[in-house]
Amino acid sequence: MKLLITGGAGFIGSHVVRLFVTKYPNYQIYNLDALTYAGNLANLTDIENVPNYTFIKGDITDAKFLDDLFTDIPFDGVIHLAAESHVDRSITDPMSFVMTNVVGTVNLLNAAKTAWAGALEGKRFYHVSTDEVYGSLHNPEDFFTEETPYDPQSPYSASKAASDHFVRAYGNTYKLPVVISNCSNNYGPNHFPEKLIPLMIHNIQTNKPLPVYGKGENVRDWLYVVDHARAIDAVFHTGKLGETYNIGGFNEWKNLDLVHLLCSIMDRKLGRPEGTSAQLITYVTDRAGHDLRYAIDAHKIMNELGWKPSLQFEEGLEKTVDWFLNNQAWLDNVTSGNYQTYYEGMYVNR
Ligand code: NAD
Ligand code: DAU
Repeated sequence: MKLLITGGAGFIGSHVVRLFVTKYPNYQIYNLDALTYAGNLANLTDIENVPNYTFIKGDITDAKFLDDLFTDIPFDGVIHLAAESHVDRSITDPMSFVMTNVVGTVNLLNAAKTAWAGALEGKRFYHVSTDEVYGSLHNPEDFFTEETPYDPQSPYSASKAASDHFVRAYGNTYKLPVVISNCSNNYGPNHFPEKLIPLMIHNIQTNKPLPVYGKGENVRDWLYVVDHARAIDAVFHTGKLGETYNIGGFNEWKNLDLVHLLCSIMDRKLGRPEGTSAQLITYVTDRAGHDLRYAIDAHKIMNELGWKPSLQFEEGLEKTVDWFLNNQAWLDNVTSGNYQTYYEGMYVNR
C-alpha cells in the first residue's frame, strides 16, 4: 500500500500520519504538505526517520506538480486533509480558501482520476471534511446527520462544501472510489494557537486577555484529535465507497463554559488561586456570521464501523493542557514563527 496523506504537517494530519506510520509498518506513507503557516514538521519529529515515512513538500494548487507526483509514485490510496482551516482567516482572505480547498481538491481528484484510469480496483480517495458544511443549528434538539442538507455560512465552510460536492461528483461521474467524513471540532496536542482552546491555554499561561466572541453562547461539539485519527483509520479501511460518515463525540460545550473550565484547570496546574485566570476573560466583537451551534449525530460510524471515542472530554482536556505545558519549546517556536525556517533543508523539495 502506497498511501498519500495531504496536509500531514498540520494539526489533525500529523496525528493521522503518526497513527498510520506506526500501526501499518507495511504501508509506505507519503506526507504531502506545502508547509503554510499551519504546517509544522516539528509535529512529526518522533517519526521523521522511520523507514516507511516520506515527507514531500508541495502545493496542491499546482496541478502539474500533482500529475507528476502521481506519475512518479503509484499511490493506492489518498487521505486528503490539506486545507486552509481557520474560519477567521477565511473572512479576511476568502480566495486562498477557494484556491486550496476547492481548486486544490479538484487538482488532486484529477491527478488520481488520470493515474488510476482503468485500474480502480483496490483504490480509495478519502476526503476529510467538516461538520460546518451543514450550517448552524438553532433548535436545541437538532443534530447534523449525513442527510442534513448543506448550508455553509462562512467562506471556509463554503469552500469545504464545494470540495465535498466535487468529490461526490467525481465518484458519480467518473466512478472514482471516494469516501467522505465530516467531523466536529477537534482539540489536543499540536493544535495551532489561533484556534479557541490552544489560544486560551497560551493566553492564560502568559496572562493575556481571553477574547470571547460575542456573549460566548455559541456551542461547539469537541472531539480529541487522536479519536478523529482513529475514526479516519476506520473509514479508510472499512467505510463503504460512496458513503459519508459523520464523526463526533456527543460533547457539546458553550464557549464561555469551556473557557471557564480551562481557566479552572490552568489555575490548578499553575498553582494560582481558583478564579485568577477567569479574570482575564474579555468579551470582544462577535465573529461575522458566527454559527450558533454545531452538534454531530455520530450513530452511523458507531453502529456501522464500530468506532467510538476513547476519551471523556475532561480527561482529554487535562491531557491537552499538560501537553502544552510540557511542550513550551513547540509553543514558543510556533508563536515566534521560528518553526517556518527551522526545518528547511530537511524535507524532499520536489
Ligand atoms: P491545519 O490548518 O492545522 O493544517 C492544514 C495543513 O494543510 C497544514 O499542514 C498546511 O501546511 C497544509 N496545506 C495548506 N494549504 C496547502 C496546500 N495548498 N497544499 C498542500 N498543503 C497545504 O488544519 P487541521 O485543523 O489539521 O484540519 C485538517 C483537515 O481536517 C482540513 O481539511 C479541515 O477542513 C478538516 N477538519 C478540521 C477540524 C478541526 O477542528 N480542526 C474538524 C473537522 C475537519
Ligand atoms: O467544526 C469543525 C471546525 O472547527 C473545523 O472545520 C475548523 O477547521 C476548525 O477551525 C473549527 O472551527 P471553529 O470556528 O468552530 O473553531 P475556532 O477554534 O476558531 O472557534 C471555536 C469557537 O470559539 C467559535 O464559536 C468561535 C469562538 N472563538 C474563537 C476564537 C479563536 C472565540 O470566542 N474566541 C477566539 O479567540
